[in-house]
Order: sequence, then structure tokens, then C-alpha cells
Amino acid sequence: MFLAIPAVLNEEQLATVRASLNSEQAPWVDGRVSAGHQGAQVKNNQQLEESSAMARELRDFVLTRLERHALFISAVLPNKVYPPMFNRYGEGMEFGTHVDGTVRTIPGSAQKLRTDLSATLFLSDPQNYEGGELVVESDFSCRTAKLAAGDMIVYSSTSRHRVNAVTRGRRLASVFWIQSLIRDDDRRAQLFELDGTIQRLTQRGADAESLVRLTAHYHGLLRAWAEI
Ligand code: NI
Repeated sequence: MFLAIPAVLNEEQLATVRASLNSEQAPWVDGRVSAGHQGAQVKNNQQLEESSAMARELRDFVLTRLERHALFISAVLPNKVYPPMFNRYGEGMEFGTHVDGTVRTIPGSAQKLRTDLSATLFLSDPQNYEGGELVVESDFSCRTAKLAAGDMIVYSSTSRHRVNAVTRGRRLASVFWIQSLIRDDDRRAQLFELDGTIQRLTQRGADAESLVRLTAHYHGLLRAWAEI
């Protein structure tokens, strides 16, 4: 999966988040505190101290937006969402090629989360920094994302990926992981397609009986495949 999810945050919400992150009180620490052994070798960025009051407030703010985002729910089918983290790349900072760890412990709890999907929510306007692209490798190609502020990219956590060096300006982003109800990428993609088709038919006024049958089919597959 490599999917752009637009408008997770609107201009006003972005302004709120940026005002906190750009304030003098923002507790930025070395990003290596949350990296695994391999990641720490190639990670050079800063992140908001995860246990700080500001980090808690901002991640709740982002989580609330995600819970209401229909495309996110349909495409990702979230089971558990890791509390969003916030990072900052100044000039010369980058995160070299790595893979995200498969299992993470949710901070402040004993709960574990399997990382099926990785998410990057872009918080800086792309014209305000050079470099800083997220590059995700798949079997046959590399895909690059440098999205508008407020937009988010979601990709399979099994992918090798990197963040190119920022050569001008500053790049703010929020990153987190999702354990999906549907572990398998292909099955999840099929459900997403089916859900989209049901919505399309609904908008076009398809007959009610067909819609009920198709919806029952969707839920039948979800019941068969979901891991809760
Ligand atoms: Ni990563």
C-alpha cells in the first residue's frame, strides 16, 4: 500500500499544531531515542519528547481528526493506532534507509502494536523546504512523497524507506504506525475497493436490495479476515 490521504488537517488545525511546534517551549530531543539499533545508525532528526504535555495534547488532536476521516478508516481499517509522534528536520538532517520495527509498545502502557502500516502526516508547506522527501522502496520501484501540509501518506511497514536530507528550511511532520484489522495488504486493498464501490453505487441511487447484498458481502469478508 502507498496511499495519499488528503486533508487530515485543515489550515486552521495546521496553524494550531505549528504554533505549538514552533514555540520556544517545544521540547525537541534527539530523534534517536525512539530508534531501534539499525535505525539509530542512520537517523538524524529531532522529535518532540514523547512524554511531554505538548506531545500528549498534539497527538490527541491528530487522533481525533483521524477518527473522523472516512477515507482513512476505509483504507486502513485501523485496529490500534500508535500515538502520533512529531519530528523536525533542520538543514542537513535526514533519516537514511531503514525498516520500521515490527512490534512497538504503546508508551505508558504494556500494550503491543504490530506495525502493518506506517504513516507520515506532512505539517510544513513543501515550498518552505528543499529536500525532505519520503522515499519508499517497493519490489520494483521507489515512490516519493512530499505532500501538501495537512496531507498524509500511508504505506506498508514492511517497506524499506528513507527521508532525504533537508537542504533548506525546516520540515515538520507527524509519524505513527497502525495495526490494521486486516494484516494482509491485498485483502485490505480488496475491502477498500469494495467499500468504494458500495459508496459509489449508493451515490448513484442503485437499488436497495443490491446494496444490502453487497454490504453483507463486505461484512462477510471483514468477519472472515479481521483480527481483533
Ligand atoms: Ni521509518
